[in-house]
Amino acid sequence: MKLSTIAKTMPVSGIRRMFALAAGYDDVINLCIGEPDFQTPAYIIDAGAYALRHGYTKYVDNAGLPALRKAIAAKMAAENGLKCSEKNVMVTNGAGQALMSSIMCALNPGDSLILADPYYPNYLGYCKLAGVNAIAVPTCEEERFHLTAAAIEKALTPSTRAILLNSPANPTGAVLSLTELEEIAELARKRDLLIIADEPYEAIVYEGRRNYSIASLPGMFERTITVNSFSKTFAMTGWRVGYAVAEEAFIRAMAVMQESLTSSVNAASQYAACAALAGDGREVLQMKDEYEKRAELLTRSLNRIKGFKFTKPEGAFYAFVNIKETGLTSAEVAQRLIEQGRVITTPGSAFGPSGEGYIRISFAANSDILAEATRRIEAVFGRKSCSRP
Ligand SMILES: Cc1ncc(COP(=O)(O)O)c(C=O)c1O
Repeated sequence: MKLSTIAKTMPVSGIRRMFALAAGYDDVINLCIGEPDFQTPAYIIDAGAYALRHGYTKYVDNAGLPALRKAIAAKMAAENGLKCSEKNVMVTNGAGQALMSSIMCALNPGDSLILADPYYPNYLGYCKLAGVNAIAVPTCEEERFHLTAAAIEKALTPSTRAILLNSPANPTGAVLSLTELEEIAELARKRDLLIIADEPYEAIVYEGRRNYSIASLPGMFERTITVNSFSKTFAMTGWRVGYAVAEEAFIRAMAVMQESLTSSVNAASQYAACAALAGDGREVLQMKDEYEKRAELLTRSLNRIKGFKFTKPEGAFYAFVNIKETGLTSAEVAQRLIEQGRVITTPGSAFGPSGEGYIRISFAANSDILAEATRRIEAVFGRKSCSRP
């Protein structure tokens, strides 16, 4: 059967490629997937199971369960400072589908969208499907991989329609400050640009930082689609619930498009998501604290390894480790770690040209596993001579 041009040219995720490689080895430690190791909190699972037993087995509204849309609007108003109601909320199959639908609803084929490089690789796939040009703006470790208004402005062309922001960022952990967001907002207003703000790691920020939603800034709600998800915050990756918050007319268009995509998100998952938002957030905080401890453990252990340099991230649960001093490419380091250490990481090159020189280690794995992984990595690359045993 002949494949379409799109199918033939879809970018293959470097993360999934590493994941598939892992299947060929025994006794591997897999640190390539961005998936919380925690189980979904029990009260959320109970709510999903209750829903299945009590009739939530049917189609539901394209835009989502009214109760969930209401709960999301209340959360976005209280925690993110957005002036919104349920009419501004579209429930989607994860943040992934919210991003895809947002791009398809807001941009035309041939339009350009700016994003930070390194980036979450799926962004390229969404753009590809929508015929949109992804313009990756390099960011660097010296500036903690922050995308700045100045760098965006330099990359603007007559076809630029939107900026895709991801803060806290995968894979770099960059968390944009309020001032940085204000500068980007000013540029967006001045140049009439749309913002797609992808914020699924909002709850995972370290050292007292907080996530700011750019849509809460003056004049920004009407030009921003805020995307979020239950996947990371509530350890609910497999439930596939995310959402987009935007102007009412835009959400109506997304709901129409949803009918031709997946009709709706599965009803029981939405019911479970309602329970997640009704909780007191205790588990969310506990998970965040645990991720922060792991980040600190990795800061100590990875910096002892020859050729490795790692600074604790500002947010999310990835170590983006500088491996330039090994003299190898990121793909070579990742390959050596699989073959000689049985540890699966992702080469930084999978996240764009600016990711070369880095590997990504997901620390959504427990401390014992991480300690064993770093012991294996150290056995492959050796210990820095200045570091004490
Ligand atoms: C930056 C970013 N955005 C979106 C997603 C998609 O998340 P989901 O579709 O599970 O909500 C991910 C998943 O890893 C991500 O890292």
